Amino acid sequence: MTAVKTRCLDKSNQLWQEAQETILSGCQLYSKGPETHIQGVSPIYIDHGKGAHVWDPDGNEYIDYDMGLGPILLGYQYQPVDDAVIAQLRRGMGYSLVAPEEVAYAKLCIENIPSAGKVRFLKTGSAATEAAIRIARAYTGRKYILRGEYHGWHEWTTAAEGVRQGGVLDEVRQYVHKFDYNDLEAAEAYFSQHKGQVAAVITEPVILDAPKDDFLNRLKALCHENGALLIFDEVVDGFRFGIGGAQAYFGVTPDLSTFGKATANGMPLSIVAGRKEIMEAVDKKIFISTTFGGECLSLAAGIAVMHELKHKNVTKRIWAIGEKLQTTFRQLAEQIGVPIDLAGYPCRLSLEYTDYAGRRDWLYNSLFMQECVKRGVLLGWHVFPCYSHTDEDIDVTLNVFEDAMRVYKKALDSGNPASFMEGIPLKIVLG
Ligand SMILES: Cc1ncc(COP(=O)(O)O)c(C=O)c1O
Repeated sequence: MTAVKTRCLDKSNQLWQEAQETILSGCQLYSKGPETHIQGVSPIYIDHGKGAHVWDPDGNEYIDYDMGLGPILLGYQYQPVDDAVIAQLRRGMGYSLVAPEEVAYAKLCIENIPSAGKVRFLKTGSAATEAAIRIARAYTGRKYILRGEYHGWHEWTTAAEGVRQGGVLDEVRQYVHKFDYNDLEAAEAYFSQHKGQVAAVITEPVILDAPKDDFLNRLKALCHENGALLIFDEVVDGFRFGIGGAQAYFGVTPDLSTFGKATANGMPLSIVAGRKEIMEAVDKKIFISTTFGGECLSLAAGIAVMHELKHKNVTKRIWAIGEKLQTTFRQLAEQIGVPIDLAGYPCRLSLEYTDYAGRRDWLYNSLFMQECVKRGVLLGWHVFPCYSHTDEDIDVTLNVFEDAMRVYKKALDSGNPASFMEGIPLKIVLG
């Protein structure tokens, strides 16, 4: 049995009151906001982190699994990355001319990412996917885009979401179609509907479910038969699956790919990578240009992350942690008899909750997350193992998972699971 921690959340709650008065929508990333956690039970803010642990402003400590929503691959305050950033800080954050770090980092990308014949650097995942689409449209001279799950907040992605459509031009919507991962037939149908007009398919190489029936190779063939480009959005998968991303893991090289979150262990750095011939063909046609694209602190962090991935057993360790979590979680769920799964690949896991009839409801996510956070394990969208999760962290977490499962079962068995909520359940509109 793990102890339920007595926690005060006053400072978090006070900050949120102030944020609502001062910040549009209260925070900068929807998925970090209180709607995606249990208001009244979860902290709203994190004050600092070290290793795989974080502390809220009221001083409560948690083992973190959302890892900054993906960026923290190595750990908070990870020494080699922090040292590289501090050394760079002493020399300058960015100059009036190009910095040599851009060339050093570009060479590392080209050496390690299969689809990287040439690269460009940006700050966010959204900027990288936007650039990839701009390149694909410029290269093919076509308008239509077939897209998978979430790819960012810009117009062509938001247009296909169906929620929060304020400020999005209706005209944009017609050029973007969304299809489900592994649904090759849906992609084929869109290609037939817009013959000779599809510029690109953009998809994550993998989310949770494995590619079925050689999905990735067949999607690539479908694109090429139709003169379109295949873009892998590796903003989440990249570096987490290994230094070459999920494209190296699955052995399928796309025409273009995008990297973001884990690129620089928390520093803002994203990459659009592409076949040299494509990048050179669009070079003089296209305008991608941004002041902070070559900002040096992030490049120094990116170089340090590459170094860690190349020279330490980071990838192996991350996968081993994920395997331990997933295997033991599944055994516990089976033993206790709860319909919860820790799904996905060991380096990128996510919890899937249902009732006994297999029905999903945010209430079920809320219940489990509530019981974990009360015991010092902070869950969000994903379960991302990081290089700094210790064996002890994993053992504590699995004990917490076991206790949370027992409460979950009791709640389902009671016929009134909502009565087990101590805070406000999740109210998610995106995701
Ligand atoms: C697959 C994928 N692509 C792109 C993005 C956008 O990245 P950012 O939030 O850095 O703009 C995200 C963000 O979660 C993502 O999950």
